[in-house]
Amino acid sequence: MHYDDIQRAAEFLGQRITPRKPRVGLILGSGLGAFADSLDDAQGVPYDTIPGFAQSTVKGHAGRFVAGKSAGMDVLAMQGRVHLYEGLPLEQVVLPARAMVKLGCEVLVITNAAGGISEGMTPGELVLISDHLNLQGQNPLTGENDERLGTRFPDMTEAYAPALRELAQKVGASQGLSLRQGVYAGLLGPSYETPAEIRMLRAMGADLAGMSTVSEVIAVHHMGARALGISCVTNLAAGLGGKLTHDEVKATAEEVKPRFIKLLEGILAALREELA
Ligand code: HPA
Repeated sequence: MHYDDIQRAAEFLGQRITPRKPRVGLILGSGLGAFADSLDDAQGVPYDTIPGFAQSTVKGHAGRFVAGKSAGMDVLAMQGRVHLYEGLPLEQVVLPARAMVKLGCEVLVITNAAGGISEGMTPGELVLISDHLNLQGQNPLTGENDERLGTRFPDMTEAYAPALRELAQKVGASQGLSLRQGVYAGLLGPSYETPAEIRMLRAMGADLAGMSTVSEVIAVHHMGARALGISCVTNLAAGLGGKLTHDEVKATAEEVKPRFIKLLEGILAALREELA
């Protein structure tokens, strides 16, 4: 049943973006969607036109795919995503990411806004995700496994592909950014964490806290795609700075926009060579 939904969504999307054949997909997180507006020869496909898709309910999360060219390469971007805290089944949350893989995306660049937990992290910093803690209390692979998607018990040792992190690190260095790597704790939300929860997360080895990404990475890794995770530290995590607001998150993401877009463009140019 789930497989058919993915297939149907991918076919529909494929038809709408013909003749483009993107091998790289991007998920653009809170406040980070502007990258899609910089694509050349762009074609938008609103989520609400796609069979089986849910609409994002969060302000500032536009809801559409944008297919276009970056550095001369076809890419497919999700401008906005849905979250588990919106009350949707997890299958629905990962459907767009799975549809991109089904459509031929071999690499998924998955971005998010996150709270910075570890020492020295500053708002506005971009961090490469090295690994995650799935603390959402759910896994997108529960239920009967469909072998057409992937194996029952996927290994997660290199869920955030080391080669892609290395590539991103090099691109960052060439742009004067020394990108740190960190462990992303994916929580359910939508309330931000308490200071006590942040102390717990830090003790557990988390560097970043957020409300997305982990289930998408599990789902696309299950299907054999490679994932690169990038967090934009929009705020210090609870208890480490002032009070948290979604406005602050959006404002920092806005400030980071030019650097973030430049980094993504550089990464896509490097991926173009890697995939050639
Ligand atoms: N916690 C969880 N999610 C977030 C945060 C945070 O501090 N900032 C942006 N998304």
